[in-house]
Amino acid sequence: MSLPLSSIRAQSMNLWLRILISATVLVGARALTPLAAAESGADAWLRYSALDAQTTQRYEGLPREVVVLGESPVLNSAQRELIYGVARMLRRELRSGTGLGAEDAIVLATFAQLHVLDPSLRLPQELTADGYWLKSSRIRGRKYLIVAASTDRGVLYGVFDLLSRIARGASVSALDEMQQPYAPIRWVNQWDNLDGRIERGYGGPSIFFVDGQVREDLTRAGQYARLLASIGINGCTVNNVNADPHVLDNAFIAQVGRIADAFRPWGVQVAMSVDLSSPKVLGDLDTFDPLDPRVAEWWKGKVNNIYKLIPDFGGFVVKADSEGRLGPSTYGRTHADAANVIARALKPHGGVVFYRAFVYNHHLDWHDLKNDRAKAAYDNFHPLDGAFDDNAIVQIKNGPIDFQVREPVSPLLGGLRRTNEAIEVQITQEYTGQQRHLCLLVPMWKQALDFDMRIDGNPTPVKDLAAGRVFHRPTGGFAGVANVGMDANWLGSPLAMANLYGFGRLAWNPNLSAETIIDEWTRLSFGNDPLVVKTISAMQLNSWNVYESYTGPLGAGTLTNITGNHYDPAPESSEENGWGQWHRADHAGIGMDRTVATGTGFIGQYSPAVQKLYELLANCPDNLLLFFHHVPYTHVLHSGKTVIQHVYDSHYEGAEQAREFISQWKSLHGYIDEDRYSDILGRLQYQAGEAIVWRDTICKWIYGKSGIPDDKGRVGK
Ligand code: GCU
Repeated sequence: MSLPLSSIRAQSMNLWLRILISATVLVGARALTPLAAAESGADAWLRYSALDAQTTQRYEGLPREVVVLGESPVLNSAQRELIYGVARMLRRELRSGTGLGAEDAIVLATFAQLHVLDPSLRLPQELTADGYWLKSSRIRGRKYLIVAASTDRGVLYGVFDLLSRIARGASVSALDEMQQPYAPIRWVNQWDNLDGRIERGYGGPSIFFVDGQVREDLTRAGQYARLLASIGINGCTVNNVNADPHVLDNAFIAQVGRIADAFRPWGVQVAMSVDLSSPKVLGDLDTFDPLDPRVAEWWKGKVNNIYKLIPDFGGFVVKADSEGRLGPSTYGRTHADAANVIARALKPHGGVVFYRAFVYNHHLDWHDLKNDRAKAAYDNFHPLDGAFDDNAIVQIKNGPIDFQVREPVSPLLGGLRRTNEAIEVQITQEYTGQQRHLCLLVPMWKQALDFDMRIDGNPTPVKDLAAGRVFHRPTGGFAGVANVGMDANWLGSPLAMANLYGFGRLAWNPNLSAETIIDEWTRLSFGNDPLVVKTISAMQLNSWNVYESYTGPLGAGTLTNITGNHYDPAPESSEENGWGQWHRADHAGIGMDRTVATGTGFIGQYSPAVQKLYELLANCPDNLLLFFHHVPYTHVLHSGKTVIQHVYDSHYEGAEQAREFISQWKSLHGYIDEDRYSDILGRLQYQAGEAIVWRDTICKWIYGKSGIPDDKGRVGK
């Protein structure tokens, strides 16, 4: 049987491949010298650098031909990626076959096509959309390595998996493995403004927008989609949640269509953040009341127009009644009313609306000890459980405040039984060092995803709630605020890319350990040398604890400048204002009393078992103590130290560990390309200095508050 590829595609592929192979030979030659070639970080974990001779040998048995059964932009990407990756890593030109015949082959196919190839092949029935199957097989005497899935996108994901295995030197013979995503929603959000600036972005200006328009050159957008696809991300909102209503101007939608074109070959759906008041602000109506039929019609018309231009459009993200954004409260309507009017417009097209639970009053009266911003998401959304349409998803930040260095999980994640949800985490390091400090957030997300909410007394990990598995929801999953920019290395720091990679991997499989993820990422980003893998993995895995220990220990929240840049130490800025990020430090003690017994009652939003964990001082873990309790500085922790001594010690230890990152990194000199080596070294040296600034500011401040000097004589007296 012969299933031909179009000859035009084959010809252009050959030309493209010749250019690639000659480039690869050069790169490969350089890679053999002791110092690797200079790298910008643009390739991130898709470097595909040439493997050494011994490792290359392992792939001798890999078929030399790749055959794609079918034709689509996504399948084309899969085939090109495979040829490209193999050429770079193994310095071998895979032939793109015109059909299955006499040769062994790597076969890329959907199940439907595979069935045509061999009706007797037993296909895995249980694979969901986007899942894939890697299968070594012999059919009619030929050896095949099959990458198959129910969708084209699944095939692409399978190819990326295969290439990742080769890059890490793992075996690809005798494969019979199914992979499927934990949840259908695996999205990133970009907070890009139309003028090209990115809210809380630290990796350069927007890759999508400049001067109020979509960029002419969207090469980077396509490259971003490729990176996202390689870790299984299937959707991306391109503009700020603080949305400019003009994204819904018809002329602008057409421009967004060009971003969709750049994303499409990688199976990434484009989506937009929208402003709820758009029907009025854009001048079409005198209201945006979600229950007004004219408003419903307006959204329908708008959405129909979008799908005419972008048939695979993903949907919308909505931030309403939050931080000054208009919302349904203007008309006395609920968040469900607001979400549903948009959901109903999207429904016929298969789109979804993410309605953000980040709704709180930022003019809270700080004098009132019962007031508590942490309670807001649950208070606002729990009563609406069951009122949201099936294609609406409540998007909930991992913690009840705002991406702080340490927070408990948001109780709302366990407070919705008849509503879809997605957990929102922040990849961009807004409150965690803004990519200038090393801070791998994967261990933090793991803790949140694995946290047991004990719903109805049963084991209920957050990952299962978010994925919709506990209450059998039609959809749900994971959203990560990425904010990559035009910097060659995407996030501003090559090491910060581990957070983007880690988010994608956890969204695909939250059961992966942080150790596994960082091992993969390090090998793919810096090579397989054991010293490199060991050193970088250890630094990354330690980095969140180090950052926490010199910035905000014991769950006091970040002590950063909350009214300004969210970066510098400024502990007083949290207090005596309406933002509600209080730690309530005074001369006698520190911490927010959130107990049911004497405090704000926030702890009452959790299940009884979790309440028990946090309500009693005796049970409450040290690392969240000040989030839940107000205690004297002399309170003795489970560790045996007083609170005040812990603060002094942790700041000194943290700053010291930050300094040690420098020598750890220096041990890799000569093992890593010079560009990334010196870029990262400079960042670590800067971080070590900043850690001292943090240490001294916080220690001085807390000594000033408490009047209690450091036992070790470093602070006070
Ligand atoms: C944080 C962040 C804002 C952002 C907001 C949100 O408060 O500082 O810039 O708009 O989160 O998530 O909506």
